[in-house]
Amino acid sequence: MNSQTQKHSPSQNGKQANGKDRVVIFDTTMRDGEQSPGCVMNVEEKLQIARVLADMRVDIIEAGFPIASEGDFEAVRRISEEVKGVKIAALARAAKGDIARAGEALAKSDGGRIHTFISTSPQHLVHILKMNEEQILEAVRDSVTYARSLAEDVQWSAQDASRSDSEFLFRCIEEAINCGATTINIPDTVGYAVPEEFADLIREIANKVPNIDKAVISVHCHNDLGLAVGNSLAAVMAGARQVECTVNGIGERAGNCSLEEVVMALRTRHDLYKIGTEIKTESIMKASRLVSAISGFVVQPNKAIVGKNAFAHESGIHQDGMLKNAETYEIMTPESVGLKETQIVLGKHSGRHALSKKLEELGIEMGDNSLNEFFTRFKALADKKRQIYDEDLFALAEDSSVRSNEIIRFLSLQVQCGTEGPQEAQVRLEVEGTEHNQTAAGNGPVDAIFQAIRKVYPHPDAHLALYQVHAVTGGTDAQAEVTVRLEEEGRVANGQGADHDTLVATARAYINALNKLVGKRGRSAPGALASKEEKVALGGV
Ligand code: KIV
Ligand code: ZN
Repeated sequence: MNSQTQKHSPSQNGKQANGKDRVVIFDTTMRDGEQSPGCVMNVEEKLQIARVLADMRVDIIEAGFPIASEGDFEAVRRISEEVKGVKIAALARAAKGDIARAGEALAKSDGGRIHTFISTSPQHLVHILKMNEEQILEAVRDSVTYARSLAEDVQWSAQDASRSDSEFLFRCIEEAINCGATTINIPDTVGYAVPEEFADLIREIANKVPNIDKAVISVHCHNDLGLAVGNSLAAVMAGARQVECTVNGIGERAGNCSLEEVVMALRTRHDLYKIGTEIKTESIMKASRLVSAISGFVVQPNKAIVGKNAFAHESGIHQDGMLKNAETYEIMTPESVGLKETQIVLGKHSGRHALSKKLEELGIEMGDNSLNEFFTRFKALADKKRQIYDEDLFALAEDSSVRSNEIIRFLSLQVQCGTEGPQEAQVRLEVEGTEHNQTAAGNGPVDAIFQAIRKVYPHPDAHLALYQVHAVTGGTDAQAEVTVRLEEEGRVANGQGADHDTLVATARAYINALNKLVGKRGRSAPGALASKEEKVALGGV
């Protein structure tokens, strides 16, 4: 880590940051979140997410698990180098090689954090690690001491802490702090805890571990029983001052504690918790949309805070109340999470200047070249669609950003479908500068499009793992946003496409996923980018 590395004392880390008590938000969307089955993020996408998280004033971004793959290493390295004003963390098992690789990936960060962990529960000791308690204690000492020789800021986690013997857990924590850990993380790895019991555990740690005043207590809760946010909030009440969470709650199995839910609960119920975070909550929707587009996981409509219906009122009684006073049925304002009332200000007569001002207002960043291309697509959409909503612009922007650096480019599509058949698609694509035309029949128009693309660019080992269509705004002229997931020999690639025409959006999404897959093949030749399966074999996290 560079010479500007500062000693990170616990007091700078939440207990009395800026002279006031607050909860530190540790975002693990790009590490634990990326461990969601079917979720993959490439380095450019991770950089995009990291910038949005930094802008949202997240305190710590866990950018990856560097030993797990070249892709993870590169993501941590680039984020450490390019995203400033936020602490970057990297995960490592209790092994020298892991810790050294994490330190190397964080080398260009300003005071990066090495996050090392080992399991402490009897289930994991017996069945995974095949180690006894004394061996675990020795591994804690060795790993934390080595991590501290590489970084001032070291976090130690007790995997499966909530199912561990508490006396043994306390001894491990004490050792980790003695060896220099400044944050102690207590994961409910399998989502087994319930709020009262989890709060008791945190309280006991705060009262019984003799040197706990030298570290910040952190919690990391999984959502198997739907209690991740409840457990995290109970832990805050009991003295935890760091919460680990992910945008949209993505993560292993049922996911992790949702960032937006825990942050808004602390803000909305400040009367009860009397403690808050530094998060700029107005950026929540932007982060949610970006993570959803990149991960390919559509947010359920009734999801708290960021679901499409979270601020919608359907029943007459509710609408009547809302018109009289919003406080009757709303405990937070839509503006507080970055939702503006959709305004129809742009249409087919709007010019480049108005568009770029609107994009700026919505926080969508676009360079001059991208703006030209974006403007052309905006005009095409405005020609077909009566009203352009903010959501349409978000969808177009996501679609444009995911399509940069493509080797296969979409040019045009003609489809014949309907009850009488044949179901046929003709695609015109550009592959590394050369134009190709292919027609294919299929079992329905979507299949015909995929077959035609396969004819232009054969990829026999890849199969379609997910096809999802979602309307960006209401009405029959809504834009469609399509997600396609392709899998090839354990590699997974998610692609997105947006268009007024669902079939065009489908072709765009497929081509986007294919471009990512092709990119991965290229990179995996010498450096062996770890597939999802390889990562699982390595980690057990
Ligand atoms: O769930 C878990 O225990 C983890 C640790 C690595 C922190 O993700
Ligand atoms: Zn986890």
